[in-house]
Amino acid sequence: MPLMTTKPMFDLAYTGGFAVGAFNVNNMEITQGIIDACAAEQSPLILQISKGARSYANMTYLRHIILAAVEEHPELPIAIHLDHGDTVDLVNQCIADGFTSVMIDGSHHPFAQNVKLSADAVKVAHAAGVTVEAELGMLGGIEEDVVGLSAEEYQKNLHKFLTDAKEAADFWKQTGIDSLAVAIGTSHGAYKFKHAAVLAFDRIEEIMKTCPGLPLVMHGSSSVPQEFIDLINKYGGNMPNAKGVPEDQISQAVRKYGVCKVNIDTDLRLALTAKIREVFAKDPAEFDPRKYLGPGRKAIVEMVKRKLHVLNSAGKAEQVNAQWKKLGEPLPNYYKKCCCHG
Ligand code: G3H
Ligand code: 13P
Ligand code: ZN
Repeated sequence: MPLMTTKPMFDLAYTGGFAVGAFNVNNMEITQGIIDACAAEQSPLILQISKGARSYANMTYLRHIILAAVEEHPELPIAIHLDHGDTVDLVNQCIADGFTSVMIDGSHHPFAQNVKLSADAVKVAHAAGVTVEAELGMLGGIEEDVVGLSAEEYQKNLHKFLTDAKEAADFWKQTGIDSLAVAIGTSHGAYKFKHAAVLAFDRIEEIMKTCPGLPLVMHGSSSVPQEFIDLINKYGGNMPNAKGVPEDQISQAVRKYGVCKVNIDTDLRLALTAKIREVFAKDPAEFDPRKYLGPGRKAIVEMVKRKLHVLNSAGKAEQVNAQWKKLGEPLPNYYKKCCCHG
């Protein structure tokens, strides 16, 4: 049952020229689409759950959907991760729900407060055998809203929001985190760049130098495939100027600069929405959810399969399982007490 923390994944990804895809799950079809793609490509994966997903789907349902995926695919290395956790309370709830990894996002707080929040999260998570990701710097899309900046103000002052390499080292030392989400020019959502899309590769390089051994995470890494935007716009949608991170830049960040985890949510939403719109437009009489959610799920499978090659994680499942075994199968405490996974 290779449910695991992110440790064995990042141990190998750090020097292995690949990154683990972290995909946001909100319902059964999305989860199945992701897992089917990873099974076809024998790739490790992280299923991540946001606070919004918890309240939309109800954690009990999500937990069982994810554990069904784990049961269906015992050969796949899977981590269950909290995405953008904002309080230690939420981190504690996720630990109690069987997450193997959590993110505490204090990036919108002043440095000292971010350190305190992240260190507190590390304390409770590590005591439970759970790995921790924190964030330093500010991404666009969600975080500029949190601090009340317009998208224009954010873009104009982008250099100020990128993660500072020296601060990153200090932050790591003071918190004891297992991985760090960095701001290097990506942003959340479907409208990432007004002009040419360029990531700050030099900043990744600087952070890798000041923080040797610390796995880096790229949020906001959807590529916003044009084929989905075209379908959405063709069939009644309205998403002009949607733009993502070009796949070749994601690939460079992973293979050349060593990013270990790449977060994808928007592309899943686009794949599902594009196909649902297409079905409704072509067959307005259709009302069987299986007839539109099914094609949506299939589009997710194909999109994720392609992504796993961009991330170079296809075919890495076995290696990660071996690393997990080598570490002594350190599952979080939750699974030691659990009757079905102990
Ligand atoms: O980075 C955020 C993810 O896309 C999750 O979004 O909070 O709407 O679930 P959400
Ligand atoms: P996207 O919006 O680019 O998919 O990013 C998702 C993300 O960072 C989740 O934490
Ligand atoms: Zn994110």
